[in-house]
Amino acid sequence: ARITLRQLLDHAAEHGYGVPAFNINNMEQGLAIMEAAAAADAPVIIQASRGARSYANDIMLSKMIDALEEMHPQIPICLHQDHGNEESTCATALQHGFTSVMMDGSLKADAKTAADYDYNVDITRRVVELAHWIGASVEGELGVLGSLEHGGGEQEDGHGVEGEVSHDQLLTDPDQAVDFVRATKVDALAIAMGTSHGAYKFSRKPDGDILAMRVVEEIHRRLPNTHLVMHGSSSVPQPLQDAFNAFGGEMPQTWGVPVEEIVRGIRHGVRKVNIDTDCRLAMTAAFRKVAMQSKSEFDPRKFLKPAMDALRDLCRDRFEQFGTAGHA
Ligand code: G3H
Ligand code: 13P
Ligand code: NA
Ligand code: ZN
Repeated sequence: ARITLRQLLDHAAEHGYGVPAFNINNMEQGLAIMEAAAAADAPVIIQASRGARSYANDIMLSKMIDALEEMHPQIPICLHQDHGNEESTCATALQHGFTSVMMDGSLKADAKTAADYDYNVDITRRVVELAHWIGASVEGELGVLGSLEHGGGEQEDGHGVEGEVSHDQLLTDPDQAVDFVRATKVDALAIAMGTSHGAYKFSRKPDGDILAMRVVEEIHRRLPNTHLVMHGSSSVPQPLQDAFNAFGGEMPQTWGVPVEEIVRGIRHGVRKVNIDTDCRLAMTAAFRKVAMQSKSEFDPRKFLKPAMDALRDLCRDRFEQFGTAGHA
């Protein structure tokens, strides 16, 4: 059954668990995520980026979710727009059956100036009004995702921040978070605590200096009833890096967000945990293995089936680790 983000995260807060939000682009990912959800008896957030929507087509994506729902009627599914950048992106998602949208006003407004902050508040508030008219949910974002380790590091698009940006400017300011939630009435708030998108988050196992989970705790203290969202929450597990590299991949050593830090976040109000990179890595490591070990193979299913199995196992692990299992 289709469920809104609000319904799902209210339940998660009541029962003290977190929900992974996995990105989807194609049928194989949908089948694997749902196989894991069914095995774990877990509700799930399936999210599509703007890139996913143009890759798969809105009609294909939305009918695919219809099919997955029909195959797994016992599993609550929230279909969420990941990183909506404009009101129109959010509106067309809702038109296609999404039950939740992210209005990411931080993409343009990186909270460095008051004007950027006002822009973020205004556009997010308008999307909340629109979505709430039809009973859908909204996630907003405050702060800049980027690596503290790289001295002001990377912006969300992977390009360096221009000019001087201090570490503190990247992290979500708790006072501003209180004001933002009050002004916009978002159902969930994505906050910045030092993670970034993609595989290259940290060049060593992160400690409290570069992964500032204390920010999560402080914001949760100030906003105990707001569902918090962690983006850039792939763990980039060593076994997946090793598998990728063992079969001809060339991924330099990297560190993601340790699962135990996410679990710590879940104890402090984190309810939605965005994971895409780990899913990509699980699948492509499996492709590489087939390509290297079965050089005469040309049936795509022989590549895709092991890739689905690897993605299923990863998703299953996260449902267990985040306490989502058993809550469908
Ligand atoms: O936030 C980024 C997600 O990993 C989606 O990535 O825009 O390449 O589909 P994408
Ligand atoms: P990762 O790149 O860490 O998987 O983050 C995904 C994400 O935040 C999608 O919005
Ligand atoms: Na999102
Ligand atoms: Zn994200």
